Amino acid sequence: MLFTPVTIGSLTLQNRLIRAACGERRADRAGLVTHEMLAYVDELARGGCGLVILGHGYIRRDGRLTDNETGLDRDEQVSRLGLVADQIRAGGAKAVIQISHGGAQCRPSVIETTPVSPSGVEVRKTKVVPRILEPDEIVELVADFAAAAGRVKDAGFDGVQIHAAHGYLITQFLSPASNLREDEWGGSPEKRFHFLSTLIGAVQERVGDDFPVLIKLNLDDCIPKGIPLSEALNVATAVSDLGIAAIEVSGGVVDSERGAARKGITPGKQEAYFRSMAREVKRMVDCPVILVGGLKSLPVINDCLESEDADLVALGRPLIREPRLPLDWLDGRDTPADCVSCNRCALYKDRPLRCETLVLEQEQAEKEREQGKEKEEE
Ligand SMILES: Cc1cc2nc3c(=O)[nH]c(=O)nc-3n(C[C@H](O)[C@H](O)[C@H](O)COP(=O)(O)O)c2cc1C
Repeated sequence: MLFTPVTIGSLTLQNRLIRAACGERRADRAGLVTHEMLAYVDELARGGCGLVILGHGYIRRDGRLTDNETGLDRDEQVSRLGLVADQIRAGGAKAVIQISHGGAQCRPSVIETTPVSPSGVEVRKTKVVPRILEPDEIVELVADFAAAAGRVKDAGFDGVQIHAAHGYLITQFLSPASNLREDEWGGSPEKRFHFLSTLIGAVQERVGDDFPVLIKLNLDDCIPKGIPLSEALNVATAVSDLGIAAIEVSGGVVDSERGAARKGITPGKQEAYFRSMAREVKRMVDCPVILVGGLKSLPVINDCLESEDADLVALGRPLIREPRLPLDWLDGRDTPADCVSCNRCALYKDRPLRCETLVLEQEQAEKEREQGKEKEEE
């Protein structure tokens, strides 16, 4: 089932396995992608997934999360981005990139100013108290998202994904925990949705009807007073009605104990921790549903697809460790991903994304080889 073609909007994928967006951290300080990025996406795309979704592309410099994040805020970035899209397609996959703004979850040390949010609610983990957005700034942000989506299209990507998950700016508008406004942008579920619906309209106007616009959405903020499931399901239905090409079901914010990338997931029952929410979304929407979160073994993945709880699956951490995992499975491998969900890959924000545990293991093996050689020589 996993290795059968599927359609997302106007896009046909060779299979249902997606590389989930994980910030690659391979851009220079101007947000321009580097040769290192090209080599990285080449490896990913040749690994056998049907679609590669690249992580956070910032729509404004003061919305970026790290100094090495891919920039989508200037036209000068488009030609190098085009090389990335071409490289992914040459590897056999389709190419999508996220448009994102970190909002209150940005770090002042990176953006060199105070992060912004709908209401100035503190991010407990970083102790950041954001500045409250003025109404005219919100309108500007909508235009910035649309301009960034236009650059993605101009660069030759096959689609764009709106990052409306994990507590970043769009989630901050959707969630009653972070949106306490009482103007047209907050105060009721409909008004909390207003930023996202306006933004989708602006993006669609910029990229046209044929260009797939996907979304990654929190169905659960995994914090007290986060978005209620019923409200999140209404958002999912509404974005599908607005013409979104696929919904990736996720959850969590920076402050949640157990968020998007949960630690220590073992193969079997712990996998697919957003499955029940994907199932509910799937029942309510017309567009394809993507399940992400803790997937690491073929039987579980195929069961999710065969029981129609999701149309596609996305893997993040497993493909950081083993970019060739999809091909290995296709070739008959029957063991789960080697990833142990330790989250060391998320630790070093100033380094390019990689499996830090694999690097440690390789260094340890090298040390043991050297010690063995020395003993033989004695
Ligand atoms: C190091 C790291 C970076 C991530 N970057 C992004 C990102 O840029 N955009 C995004 O939507 N999710 C990001 N995620 C979340 C993943 O896409 C995914 O939702 C999460 O890791 C759960 O899937 P997994 O268990 O297959 O890793 C990141 C996760 C990790 C561990």
